[in-house]
Amino acid sequence: MSRFQPRSRPMQMLRSSVGQSTLMLLTSGAASAAAWGLGHLSIPLAAGAAAVGAGLAYLVGRGRRATALDSADLRHKTVVVTGANTGIGLETCKALISVGAHVIMVCRTAQRGVLAKETVVAAARLGGSAELVVMDLADLASVQAAVETISDLGVSISILINNAGIMMCPWGTTVQGHETQWGVNHLGHMWFTLGLLDNISQAGGRIVNVASSAHGFDSTPLPITSAADYDRVRAYGRSKIANILFTRLLNAKLVSANSAARAYSLHPGAVNSELLRHNTVLAAVTAPLRAIVFQNTWQGAQTSLYCALDDDAEPGEYHAECRPAPTTAAALDMDAAAALWAYSLTAAESSRFPMPDPDAIEL
Ligand SMILES: NC(=O)c1ccc[n+]([C@@H]2O[C@H](COP(=O)([O-])OP(=O)(O)OC[C@H]3O[C@@H](n4cnc5c(N)ncnc54)[C@H](OP(=O)(O)O)[C@@H]3O)[C@@H](O)[C@H]2O)c1
Repeated sequence: MSRFQPRSRPMQMLRSSVGQSTLMLLTSGAASAAAWGLGHLSIPLAAGAAAVGAGLAYLVGRGRRATALDSADLRHKTVVVTGANTGIGLETCKALISVGAHVIMVCRTAQRGVLAKETVVAAARLGGSAELVVMDLADLASVQAAVETISDLGVSISILINNAGIMMCPWGTTVQGHETQWGVNHLGHMWFTLGLLDNISQAGGRIVNVASSAHGFDSTPLPITSAADYDRVRAYGRSKIANILFTRLLNAKLVSANSAARAYSLHPGAVNSELLRHNTVLAAVTAPLRAIVFQNTWQGAQTSLYCALDDDAEPGEYHAECRPAPTTAAALDMDAAAALWAYSLTAAESSRFPMPDPDAIEL
């Protein structure tokens, strides 16, 4: 059980006094709430949900920054960031290169990655540098290839930030046949992490998994397995519970293996990024509002940076606003974490892409 139980903070007080629908708006931010509205109600109601959610997100979700960045010196350190070409990931890369890191920018396509790398390199200080690795998390063959490419570089990885994600897309599956949000947000990242784990463990590094407060949308980390049962909001929530539970169990395994490496998860806030790309009407309708009241991507990167750099970040725990944060019972359930781990190993194995040497961390 986490020692971070819900506290008597304004957000928790609000949580206890509002109904379930408002809780959804509050905990997810406007993007999530609006997407839910679009899926369940109508466009005007979705826009209304967006407005309410945005207001609440504005009240509860901005302001803290990762002060550890001020004194960080990552010269001669290598960091790996997924989803590095835009949004929160791009801003995270810019911050890390500005304190001297060698940043391996892992991007879905070379085309977008090359442009993003130019932006990141322009922010370099203290000899920081960047290179691009292409990886499509929706294809375990691509994940495997990226692990091999990074391993062949012969660098020691101090920080891995699993940031890439998709939200509330229509029903679809990855190349290996797993529901897309679960496959990209969780399974691909789990495979990637285990593939690099020996390296990170030897470096005593940190693994940072970008989850979401939208993990409250459901109560299981396992995927929806048929189009008939598909609900894009619940599917996103499941993938984000999976991020949090994978972090908890991975961290526990690292501790029991006497590894110095640690794992952390977080909610970045309600951030004005491209995350609504699969909800185009909603994205267009809410664009002006989001530009005003959502966090920008620099603000959205702060809790990732906190988890990557700050001594006060709590290994295994879920964070928001640059501090440990309360979460749901489902995201604290270690039996569910074990079930997710086993399910994921089987899912990868049955797809003919067994997880890289999982026995090595069954210590
Ligand atoms: N924005 C928010 O309000 C918010 C709130 C809570 C949590 N989060 C989480 O924060 C993380 C970053 O989101 P963001 O807001 O920065 O979103 P974003 O602007 O849409 O960026 C998402 C990144 O993930 C990459 N990506 C998507 N599918 C991929 C795949 N199959 N393989 C490899 N990379 C893939 C994208 O690459 P392409 O551009 O090439 O597709 C992009 O670089 C996500 O995990 C998201 O769930 C965001």
